[in-house]
Amino acid sequence: MIEESTATTAPFSRCTSPARISAYGMYVPQRILANRHFTDMVDTSDEWIVKRTGIRERRIAAVDEFTSDLCYEAVLDLERAHGVSVADVDFIIAATVTPDYSFPSVSAILQHRLEIQRAGAMDISAACAGFMYGLITASGLVASGAARKVLVVAAETLSKITDYTDRNTCVLFGDGAGCALVEQSDHGGFLAVAVGSDGSYQQVLYRSGLRTRIGQTNDDTALLRQNGREIYKWAVSTIPNVIRRLLKSSGMTTSDIDWFIPHSANLRMIESICAAVGFSPERMLWSLETYGNTSAASIPLALIPAMRDGRVKPGDTVLTIAFGAGLVWAGSVFTV
Ligand code: ACO
Repeated sequence: MIEESTATTAPFSRCTSPARISAYGMYVPQRILANRHFTDMVDTSDEWIVKRTGIRERRIAAVDEFTSDLCYEAVLDLERAHGVSVADVDFIIAATVTPDYSFPSVSAILQHRLEIQRAGAMDISAACAGFMYGLITASGLVASGAARKVLVVAAETLSKITDYTDRNTCVLFGDGAGCALVEQSDHGGFLAVAVGSDGSYQQVLYRSGLRTRIGQTNDDTALLRQNGREIYKWAVSTIPNVIRRLLKSSGMTTSDIDWFIPHSANLRMIESICAAVGFSPERMLWSLETYGNTSAASIPLALIPAMRDGRVKPGDTVLTIAFGAGLVWAGSVFTV
């Protein structure tokens, strides 16, 4: 179990970054998989899933629909919603643990499909913290002058690596994508960021690759494996301290934060984190009820609908915190 000190010594910084998020987009596949359908696959019930996770349904990509397709649709949504074009971005970051191929990257596929002429392209593997790692990297690229406008896309097709015979994991995950444009601004949006990692937890959430199951050599199923109970215990004991440090770095208290957006992994778990830090539950946003755990996409899928229905207003201050396989975590305080 991680000691409190490990999390609290992770990097934190107060930002003076002249970067802000100027546009957002999202996409989820058409197919809805409701809880009741799992009773045909495994020994479970709608009641168990709702009570223990908060999830009611999730979206599942079509057989011929891959992560780069979800990314592409999310970017088109961004362009439509904000009346902008991404043609002039100079960097594309795709955050995913379910890329179409090991290589080439999803970001390079996206560059070609979106006909972006001159842009660097790279993927980030930070599991559920991928969107936050992407935003923090983008804000650094803009702040350093290395890029003027960065497209960050976070997307997963977790259904393609889910074991639908394992009730411990199959009910949890869904597919989706979110994206954001990060660009220079004279009223910077990022007030504080935090990142951290503890690879001693690598065995609690993984998918085998060139190496097979950690500690073994005979498992090549390449499906997601998780010890949910261990992650739950780790998250409720560690993440509140990360949030407290993030607030301190930004010079804010919980009452200065309009919206708290934790990674949508499990409603009981994030409610417990919310209570430990002292946020009122009405100010917490999550996407898991309708989309399940969408890993890197979970934070944009919670934020964007709330912006579009008017709950989150321009100028509101948001605190986000994400964590996932690694274990890795990343958070930020920014204004929308
Ligand atoms: N239906 C019915 N029973 C189930 C199901 C199910 N779908 N899943 C597990 N159970 C059973 C278990 O088999 C166990 O039965 P047993 O007591 O007979 O052995 C019992 O329920 C309790 O199991 P727990 O694992 O203790 O259940 P818990 O309340 O912890 O819930 C869960 C499990 C939902 C996975 C939870 O631990 C969780 O959400 N953990 C956090 C996951 C997370 O945050 N992941 C990180 C991000 S994901 C990413 O990076 C891609």
